[in-house]
Amino acid sequence: MVSPPPALLVFFLILAASAPGGRAWSKEGHVLTCRIAQALLEPEAADAVRNLLPDYASGDLSALCVWPDQVRHWYRYRWTSSLHFIDTPDEACNFDYSRDCRDEKGEPDRCVAGAIYNFTSQLLHYNHGTADRRYNLTEALLFLSHFMGDIHQPMHVGFTGDEGGNTIQLRWFNRKSNLHHVWDRDIILTALADLYGKDMDAFQADIQKNFTTGIWSEDLSSWGDCDDLFSCPKKYASESISLACKWGYGGAVGGEALGEDYFRTRMPVVARRIGQGSVRLAMVLNRVFGDNKQDIPPPA
Ligand SMILES: *[C@@H]1O[C@H](CO)[C@@H](O)[C@H](O)[C@H]1NC(C)=O
Ligand SMILES: *[C@@H]1O[C@H](CO)[C@@H](O)[C@H](O)[C@H]1NC(C)=O
Ligand SMILES: *[C@@H]1O[C@H](CO)[C@@H](O)[C@H](O)[C@H]1NC(C)=O
Repeated sequence: MVSPPPALLVFFLILAASAPGGRAWSKEGHVLTCRIAQALLEPEAADAVRNLLPDYASGDLSALCVWPDQVRHWYRYRWTSSLHFIDTPDEACNFDYSRDCRDEKGEPDRCVAGAIYNFTSQLLHYNHGTADRRYNLTEALLFLSHFMGDIHQPMHVGFTGDEGGNTIQLRWFNRKSNLHHVWDRDIILTALADLYGKDMDAFQADIQKNFTTGIWSEDLSSWGDCDDLFSCPKKYASESISLACKWGYGGAVGGEALGEDYFRTRMPVVARRIGQGSVRLAMVLNRVFGDNKQDIPPPA
């Protein structure tokens, strides 16, 4: 057997090191969230979103919803890396903002719930012409849209010890994966391939149908309920860690294979979370860009 030249080996090692290890709904999860949300915008919010998007997005929010994943390792945006998730104490199965919403250095508010708060408050000034010029509201829109997706991915609010399931190695059917990645991407790709003929539009239409006239239509109004834009992200994070414990960690054993049963019972959870994330992103954008007097936080 010929061993590969060292340079090639190094190349593959780097590739492996930078491979999944990620922490974000897959591209597909974010695209679905942003497409469904944009379709639910009222005229004022739809205009504001179009104005804030760069020209090359051609008015399509979903084209840039993965941008925060692309920049998180760039020097300038490295601080945003901890904004994609929340680490909770192992086995606690609950979320406490002041305990858990911190980065590795202990810096408060540096988690996905704090990020939604931060970018929502920046955008609230758009209509009032009082935007702080240090902040780029295009970036705030992209971050908010991305993080509303992430906070609904149950394993984005997971245990510290296993990095939200990233270190739980297992198989998805025959392929190597990890528990976090199963929820970010594998379930969605299997659903697309097996149930929707790889047609994203069909998957999107099915989610939309299920909350407008289908199985979730009775819940729809409660999804959008939010008295206070600044405390609702805490509720979304609490829902995620509960779902992570019950459906994510529950029934998944490291080293083993997850297959048909896990897929069949978890796919509806994933689809419903994408639906909820979309409806709530639209709700926030409609309020932020609509008549938002009651949402403006008091001056600090
Ligand atoms: C809020 O976002 C701005 C960048 O838009 C950043 O400079 C600031 O540190 C963030 N605040 C928190 C608490 O994360
Ligand atoms: C705002 O951010 C976007 C995306 O990073 C960038 O393309 C744009 O030039 C920025 N706008 C300003 C005024 O800095
Ligand atoms: C929509 O609801 C039907 C049941 O009425 C279900 O079979 C299907 O899997 C659901 N689709 C999604 C994407 O949740």
